[in-house]
Amino acid sequence: MPEAYVQAPAPGTSDLAGRYRATRGLSEALCAPLSEADACIQSMDDASPAKWHLAHTTWFFETFLLRDRRPGYRLFDDRWPRLFNSYYEAEGERITRARRGMLSRPSVAEICRWRAHVDEAMASLLGDPAVAGLIELGIAHEQQHQELLLTDIKHALFQNPLGPAVWPAATDDRLPERGETGWHQHPGGIALAGHEGDGFAFDNEGPRHRLLLEPFALADRLVSNREWDEFIADGGYSTASLWLSDGWAWVQREAITAPLYWRGDEHFTHCGWQPRDANAPVTHISYYEADAFAVWVGARLPTEFEWEAIARGADPTAGNQLDGAAPPRPRRGGELFGDCWQWTRSAYLPYPRFAPAAGAVGEYNGKFMSGQFVLKGASCATVRGHSRASYRNFFYPHQRWQFTGLRLAKDL
Ligand SMILES: [Fe+2]
Repeated sequence: MPEAYVQAPAPGTSDLAGRYRATRGLSEALCAPLSEADACIQSMDDASPAKWHLAHTTWFFETFLLRDRRPGYRLFDDRWPRLFNSYYEAEGERITRARRGMLSRPSVAEICRWRAHVDEAMASLLGDPAVAGLIELGIAHEQQHQELLLTDIKHALFQNPLGPAVWPAATDDRLPERGETGWHQHPGGIALAGHEGDGFAFDNEGPRHRLLLEPFALADRLVSNREWDEFIADGGYSTASLWLSDGWAWVQREAITAPLYWRGDEHFTHCGWQPRDANAPVTHISYYEADAFAVWVGARLPTEFEWEAIARGADPTAGNQLDGAAPPRPRRGGELFGDCWQWTRSAYLPYPRFAPAAGAVGEYNGKFMSGQFVLKGASCATVRGHSRASYRNFFYPHQRWQFTGLRLAKDL
């Protein structure tokens, strides 16, 4: 694979063709350390095999760009859309998500040949302004799947008692202990939320609209592993009064006593089992855990609008984000973007006057606006340049296999 392809695309470049090729190359570079078996397994319904991510992102370009926008294009294999359509009802029959791990064929090599075929055919569309917006969507879509690929393979390898590593461990460079938490203060008032302008954004980020904020403060850093250890030592997981009713039922039912991937003083990483740095941000927590911790310290979760109001002036390409095929690792915790996605208390709902796009791509976001919560920021597994202040990630409140963490808020 050419060297230039293993790096993430430079954020903010207008070179659509270059960003397309860099994005496609990064997906394959992320899979390079995996065996055929690693790439095929599926550890739970929420996760997909690495091989499936390579194929599904290719299906997206082949279906919505080549099939629909390039007259005369013939599908590489007309049996495969059924395997690699994720959830698009308009695209017809497909296998259920929970069965993706059953696809031992086609092989990784066959899927990579499909990827090369699609990339070659896409070359004729990369300079066409009529489809530039759809190609931007395809790039952003593949970047989302790169993060899922990383979190899904981590979860898959975690199932193995030997704790296999995707990459060799970095040197043990412990972070210094941090001082007192500072606060970004906001006076409240009428604020603007949501995306506006020419730059790419998903449909769920708009329209921009007004809303009223009460005075509040947002912490200048993420909650750390050390603070989480204190929460555990104080009986955080066994004190019903700290928990939402649904959260307490989840803790009881699942026998939860710590964040996902914790074992003693270690945690599971892409480099196998490693010592846990007390001063790194805590990650792999559910909404329920984030909320219980906030109650324990006498604070609360921010709303998505409070977070966005503070982040308006921040650089979304700063912080600890993914720059290439290397192990993601939460490290700093100060920047608004990077390290881990931050739970908000905002339900994932449509903004006023939201309308999904026409056609099958209209199924991208809108139909998931039920029962999930918004997360803001970006994580160490998010490709740098992918996120922005208006970006809305979303997950169900019990889910925690993503790099999810917590930045506290409080009323003023
Ligand atoms: Fe997808």
